[in-house]
Amino acid sequence: MADNNQLLQAPRGTYDALPEEQKYWRFIKKKFNKRCENFNFSRIDTPFFEYANLFTRSIGETSDIVSKEMFYLAKRGEGEPDLVLRPEGTAGIVRAYIEHGMQNLPKPVKLYYFGPMFRYSRPQSGRFRQFFQLGFEIFGEDDPCSDVLAILLSFSILKDLKLTSNIILEINSLGCKICQKDIRKTLTSYFNQYKEYLCPECFSRLAENPLRILDCKQQRCQSLVKSGPQIVDHLCQDCKEHLQKVLEGLDELGITYDLNPSLVRGLDYYTRTVFEFRDKADETRQSSLGGGGRYDNLVEQYGGPATPAVGFAAGVERIISKLKEYQVKIPQVKKLDVFLIQIGDKAKKKVITLARDLTDQGFSFNCCLGKDSLKSQLRSADKFGATIALIIGQREALDDSVILRNMLTSSQQTVKINKLENILKKQLLKAKQASEQKNN
Ligand code: HAM
Repeated sequence: MADNNQLLQAPRGTYDALPEEQKYWRFIKKKFNKRCENFNFSRIDTPFFEYANLFTRSIGETSDIVSKEMFYLAKRGEGEPDLVLRPEGTAGIVRAYIEHGMQNLPKPVKLYYFGPMFRYSRPQSGRFRQFFQLGFEIFGEDDPCSDVLAILLSFSILKDLKLTSNIILEINSLGCKICQKDIRKTLTSYFNQYKEYLCPECFSRLAENPLRILDCKQQRCQSLVKSGPQIVDHLCQDCKEHLQKVLEGLDELGITYDLNPSLVRGLDYYTRTVFEFRDKADETRQSSLGGGGRYDNLVEQYGGPATPAVGFAAGVERIISKLKEYQVKIPQVKKLDVFLIQIGDKAKKKVITLARDLTDQGFSFNCCLGKDSLKSQLRSADKFGATIALIIGQREALDDSVILRNMLTSSQQTVKINKLENILKKQLLKAKQASEQKNN
């Protein structure tokens, strides 16, 4: 049973996106959607929960996400397979791709998404248990230019959000199905020689997935990693050329990058290119703004036809925190057009029909129907930031008119309701121009 204190707190690792935060969300969604649509991506939404084995098979049973961070839902029926809240978007989209026969669509199939993900990790700055990702996936192309396109789209999204001047792109290749096996073997035999020096977590990673040791943050593991074998030196010829072409493509675009030989990412499905964007000032892995890579085996692994793929996802909360840190100017939410003021019962009824007509005509309105005095309602109009107040008293209610008050200049005029739409449009335009002039 939750005690009273718990009832008054959002669950650990979650937060409320309050009204004053919404401008950031609106800004990010708008820029993200526009970029994806311009790159001719189509929107996809998959369920917030999926069968657990979708993730265990793709992300990897020994990954932190699967072994420690999955949110299991209580079973409702006998023999029902385990359901979990999705920890990421890619696996569900691959499932949907196969389930809906998207392999028959013209290639490349390009999909984008925006939604909540859930990971039961230890909450800390920039790490939540419920967080939002924006992301996209490209199916059906193995050409290195497709990787470049994915990085270009990711970069362009961050550029639209005015974040590119402080970020770096890190890139690496994890090799294909074949050379990744050799790489794992090479790493295993190297780390086996020094296993007593590894941190306890890497000690068990050695048996499960030696690649993960590469991005351990512990000093003692890092020194071993630095003097150990480098993945790039063990890539097969095809994978080397693939990486080379991706880097040339980035050079062509003028997108600078750091080749990070120990970038492996926390999900097992990657092959060849992996990449991450992080803020130059941030050191830790939690600070990655977004990351992605190629996963050429996943569709086939799920029983679909062999389909190369590449994708990316970024954490929306981390983007918002950077927007705040760098004081990126977020366009103001549309101002309130009209505040409706009523004095007397007849006027109150009029306000409701007027509200209906004004919103039908595209104006925004607010009112305080619980208040009766002109003075207190004018004060509310001011507090809500209305451009215009429309006052309806006994007389106006009877002769279908309103008193139109410009809240900035306090000038007033009586207007017949059937003439109101045009006059309002003109007055609001004038007010908008005046405020733009003031801001320039
Ligand atoms: P990921 O690196 O696990 O990749 O997550 C992508 C981004 O989600 C991270 O860079 C970070 O910004 C954000 N993120 C992850 N965990 C948290 C958390 N606990 N709290 C807040 N933000 C978080 C993926 O999820 C892959 N599906 C990306 C991908 C798409 N690869 C190919 N296609």
